[in-house]
Amino acid sequence: MDPVQFINLISLIIAGLALVFLARYLWTSFFGGADKPLRWQQDKQAGKVPQAVLLTEGQYPDKVRFYNFWFQLSRILDENIPGSLAELGVYKGETARLLHHAAPDRLLYLFDTFSGFPATDLQGERGEAATYTPRHFADTSVEKVLRTIGASRNLVVRQGYFPETAAGLEDERFALVSMDADLYKPTLAGLHFFYPRLSPGGVLLIHDHDARWPGILQAVQEFSAGIPESFIPIPDMHSTMMLVKNRRPSS
Ligand SMILES: C[S@@+](CC[C@H](N)C(=O)[O-])C[C@H]1O[C@@H](n2cnc3c(N)ncnc32)[C@H](O)[C@@H]1O
Repeated sequence: MDPVQFINLISLIIAGLALVFLARYLWTSFFGGADKPLRWQQDKQAGKVPQAVLLTEGQYPDKVRFYNFWFQLSRILDENIPGSLAELGVYKGETARLLHHAAPDRLLYLFDTFSGFPATDLQGERGEAATYTPRHFADTSVEKVLRTIGASRNLVVRQGYFPETAAGLEDERFALVSMDADLYKPTLAGLHFFYPRLSPGGVLLIHDHDARWPGILQAVQEFSAGIPESFIPIPDMHSTMMLVKNRRPSS
């Protein structure tokens, strides 16, 4: 095969692949509803889903995690479970945008350094987290995150080292807390801070509860030993664990 024929063949393969991806994209855009939860489709048809959440659906990489956030926040609003929302580990605000627009009238606390992992927390980490340096997840800023989410009086940025950034919030109550800090220390500190402040019926979610993140497994295991509730695994892409706070004190 001469060079021209070779280039033509490669171009043909690339064009063929592009066509396949386009056809797949169009098919799922028009007919892809069948694999979505019925309740989500009904909420959409009833006009209950805000435009900003609809836009997030297409961009959010983990659809099961996305629908779970939507279901939990809908339940919290339907059942009038009191309290603010919080995310520990915000990075560029992809999840925070969904949380805010699904429940825009609730305060949403955003806890992050917004400049990467604190070096002290990285010491002693194992698994995936052992490959991290303070430069990982540093390519963000408060301004970028606020631009991603959109201006709102209900966003409260707590920039800096968690749990120090929780100072002054001792009397706050939370309806939903999403923890996504990847490491043992902030995860355990988050459980100690948020669990006692979680409203009855409120929900706490911990991302990355699997073998690649031994620090998360350890923090959850240590904390679980002292509480009556069970953590429930969610079948999303990165093994979220979810806990709903008991409505009555356990006997
Ligand atoms: C995986 S990212 C969060 C991703 C984000 N939840 C999302 O959905 O895109 C983890 C974040 O946790 C933050 N983080 C980890 N430990 C922290 C600590 N002790 N204090 C503040 N932020 C921390 C890091 O700065 C990083 O931005």
